[in-house]
Amino acid sequence: MGFGLGWWILVILFFGWSLYFKAMIKKKKLEKEEMMSSGGEQIKAAAAIPRGRSGWPFIGETLDFIACGFTSRPATFMDKRKSLYGKVFKTHILGRPVIVSTDADVNRVVLQNQGNIFVPYYPKSITDLLGESSILQMNGTLQRRVHALIGGFLRSPQLKARMAREIENSVKLTFSGWNHKRTIYLQEETKKITFEALVRMLMSIDPGEDLNFLRREYGEFIKGLICLPIRFPGSRLYKSLKAKERLLEMVRRVVEKRKAAMDKTNEKGTAWTNDAVDVLLRDASECGGEGNQRLPLDFISGNIVEMMIPGEDSVPMAMTLAVKFLSDSPVALSRLVEENMELKRQKGACCEDYAWTDYMSLNFTQNVISETLRMANIINAVWRKALKDVEIKGFFIPKGWCVLASFCSVHMDEENYENPYEFNPWRWEKPGGAAVNSNSFTPFGGGQRLCPGLEISRLEISIFLHHLVTSFRWVAGKDEIVNFPTVKMKRKLPITIFPMDH
Ligand code: HEM
Repeated sequence: MGFGLGWWILVILFFGWSLYFKAMIKKKKLEKEEMMSSGGEQIKAAAAIPRGRSGWPFIGETLDFIACGFTSRPATFMDKRKSLYGKVFKTHILGRPVIVSTDADVNRVVLQNQGNIFVPYYPKSITDLLGESSILQMNGTLQRRVHALIGGFLRSPQLKARMAREIENSVKLTFSGWNHKRTIYLQEETKKITFEALVRMLMSIDPGEDLNFLRREYGEFIKGLICLPIRFPGSRLYKSLKAKERLLEMVRRVVEKRKAAMDKTNEKGTAWTNDAVDVLLRDASECGGEGNQRLPLDFISGNIVEMMIPGEDSVPMAMTLAVKFLSDSPVALSRLVEENMELKRQKGACCEDYAWTDYMSLNFTQNVISETLRMANIINAVWRKALKDVEIKGFFIPKGWCVLASFCSVHMDEENYENPYEFNPWRWEKPGGAAVNSNSFTPFGGGQRLCPGLEISRLEISIFLHHLVTSFRWVAGKDEIVNFPTVKMKRKLPITIFPMDH
């Protein structure tokens, strides 16, 4: 009996030990596979590859990413993973493995190392629609050159003065159609205001058939920016690409006509209409020679079309979002009205026109704009690809990996902003409070790709807010912000307006 019991104990110990041994081997094997899949051959360095999950085969964690995007809190996707794996983690979304950064310092390094370590790397549908020569995708000296040309043009005081007039006119024209107690859809109305001014700034097209054509085709084109990368007749991507072809054809005609007129007068710099087409054509005519190739006409046409992407939806959406947040924050709205009424009174008393600088010197209005862009922004992240192995803040990013620098997570992190989900424009005026030039505030990106339209956007939004709050009161209908495929209002933000008695 004694022998029998001892025997059974030995057998059980043996099986227990062998099961444990087997489990350990399996665990080690899984860890090794994990490291291999994360960093290819670089097993050693992979020890510091950010942690995370790859999710389901092929779709990865895309469904959760999209589901969070359909809510007003897109940062939830990041927050869930941040709490499990830390501020930088790996995932698999929209068809590719991605390292997501929700860390302001890591994002700064990604933005600053444009070109030498990181290059733009957008989802396939965006890449297909943009084309390789888009400023949003190009790299190296050509990107720097086009960026400098466009940036110089967009930042010039002459353009700001002209845009101020045009936006004022557009705002007044749009407002003239707003009757007492009428319900309007603000998201649609703001688009009317900015599209015309943008097209004039890019290629000086006045209201009429051409403008309507551009509006229609651009609307069709932009719908495919985030969609399945499937290209066959009838698919979303296919329709958008066709719309882009039609847009390009028309813009190409404008560019060619302008070039012919330029060659005819042969007076460089005299007969310019001063828009983005001119700026690029002027460069094409003045540059040349070794190392400074002329910009081909196709390249110019492509860039004008592609510049409508960052230029178009972003500004009207920021205007709409500002009104949404103000509608929910009566105290902030009343301070905004006070500041703008004061300017209106001053201008009225001296019978003066507004200068663009008047709008930019409205401090509280600028704070409202900053707070709006912090809380919701059409570009809530940028996509990059690492050209080489790189280590940032102890995280190893292997060559070839995609990095998503999430702005919305940084903007909504309570380590960076107290009560991040509270709309509080005053946070921007406290000494030591939020600062528009910090790493934690990047609605316009940073580094060499910092948005060249930053100032003109702030100007356009200020003009709109000034005339809105000094001409109308409104009651906003119930609505929510959704963030996928891009930021917009679920019901286009209906508001009932009441013109003010003066
Ligand atoms: C609220 C309005 C706007 C926001 C939030 C915004 C945001 C941004 C961001 C985040 C980037 C960087 C993209 C990256 O790093 O890959 C960018 C780039 C750019 N933006 Fe804007 N933008 C706005 C308005 C405008 C306007 C009005 C224009 C004028 C047409 C414009 C033209 C551009 C261009 C050309 C680039 C590419 C710069 C480059 O890659 O060198 N943006 N924008």
